[in-house]
Amino acid sequence: MAFGKALAVAAIVAVTLVVLLRTEHDYASTKIFSLKKGDIPQLGLGTWLSDRDEVAHAVEYALDNGYDHIDAALIYRNEDQTGKGIKASGLDRSKIWVTSKLWNSDHRKDKAEAAIQKSIADLGVDFLDLYLMHWPVAFVPDEGTRLDEGTSFVDTWRTMEDLVRKNYTRHIGVSNFARADVQAILDVCAICPYAHEFETHPYLQQQAFVDWHRAVGVEVIAYSPLANTNPTYRDKKGGLVGPIFEDPFWTALAAAKNATVAQAVLAWGVRRGTVVIPKSESEKHIDENRGALEIEFSKEDMEAVAKQDKKVRMNDPGKSWGVELFSDLDDPTELDGDDNEL
Ligand SMILES: NC(=O)c1ccc[n+]([C@@H]2O[C@H](COP(=O)([O-])OP(=O)(O)OC[C@H]3O[C@@H](n4cnc5c(N)ncnc54)[C@H](OP(=O)(O)O)[C@@H]3O)[C@@H](O)[C@H]2O)c1
Ligand SMILES: *[C@@H]1O[C@H](CO)[C@@H](O)[C@H](O)[C@H]1NC(C)=O
Ligand SMILES: *[C@@H]1O[C@H](CO)[C@@H](O)[C@H](O)[C@H]1NC(C)=O
Repeated sequence: MAFGKALAVAAIVAVTLVVLLRTEHDYASTKIFSLKKGDIPQLGLGTWLSDRDEVAHAVEYALDNGYDHIDAALIYRNEDQTGKGIKASGLDRSKIWVTSKLWNSDHRKDKAEAAIQKSIADLGVDFLDLYLMHWPVAFVPDEGTRLDEGTSFVDTWRTMEDLVRKNYTRHIGVSNFARADVQAILDVCAICPYAHEFETHPYLQQQAFVDWHRAVGVEVIAYSPLANTNPTYRDKKGGLVGPIFEDPFWTALAAAKNATVAQAVLAWGVRRGTVVIPKSESEKHIDENRGALEIEFSKEDMEAVAKQDKKVRMNDPGKSWGVELFSDLDDPTELDGDDNEL
């Protein structure tokens, strides 16, 4: 039927337009990078270190004030409270993106299904949008951080693919992987990683790594997007880097945009095509961070920020676990070095 055909053509044109918009990476444009409908929202609320007594309100407040994406994890030990916030918000489940993460002690097949069931139950949802392997490191269940040499992260990926097949989660992904680790998954995946969540911010830009993900079709979720603002990162690297909120480059750039440093830093993260997930328990900060989506960055701004990279990693538990993490990336674990730990 002619009408059906016209509709099909219109659909193809629309899809092509969306794909073009999606793959365009033109820093010269002042438009915010657009994502496909149904894709992960560019701004999410982080919940690591969110106080159990505060997080429900923070989540509810964020969802009622323009956020539609929550970044949770079983190991944060507050998913039940996070779930209360989701439930209390006025948003329909279909309008919210919910991410959770498989902890290192739950990598074995018999543990992983129970772990995702617990996260789903605590978060009070029927399914997750994204489930991440929190680290490419397996611990022996119930034995602290003793490494489980018998369970590779490829084995665990297979297990996670089954979690998609069983409808527990729409997508699966990885977190804190080295590039070779991501490649090892890409080489064998039947259901391939939707996203990689890793530390990246103005002081650990990893631009080539970010670009590589775009080339292989994996979304980048930038964690600790406010660099060393997380209080557990203070005094890391012997004070080599001061607080980003006091960095003269960033205070000047923010002032020029009539924005706060937090807004400018988050806007840069969005502008380079990453998803940013700032954590906050404060209504004021939650509103302020939402405002980052309105701030524009020029090509010149992007080039100036690129020169400010300090290649300093804030979050590296590799030494305490006895694992060389981030081996092919900036600031890898140094097992015998005087490295930062969490
Ligand atoms: N996959 C992983 O292994 C991994 C690792 C680390 C983090 N993450 C995820 O990424 C999220 C974000 O990272 P993060 O929590 O490490 O650090 P972050 O979001 O970069 O910084 C959080 C800190 O910044 C403060 N803050 C937020 N907005 C602010 C504003 N506008 N002005 C001033 N201070 C502000 C917060 O305090 P207030 O609460 O007082 O606002 C908090 O102390 C985490 O919560 C977690 O969901 C994942
Ligand atoms: C998963 O959902 C799909 C689509 O709704 C359905 O066809 C399938 O039977 C479900 N699988 C399981 C294991 O529940
Ligand atoms: C600067 O930002 C403040 C707070 O968002 C706003 O009230 C004010 O109108 C802005 N000024 C200019 C010149 O854009």
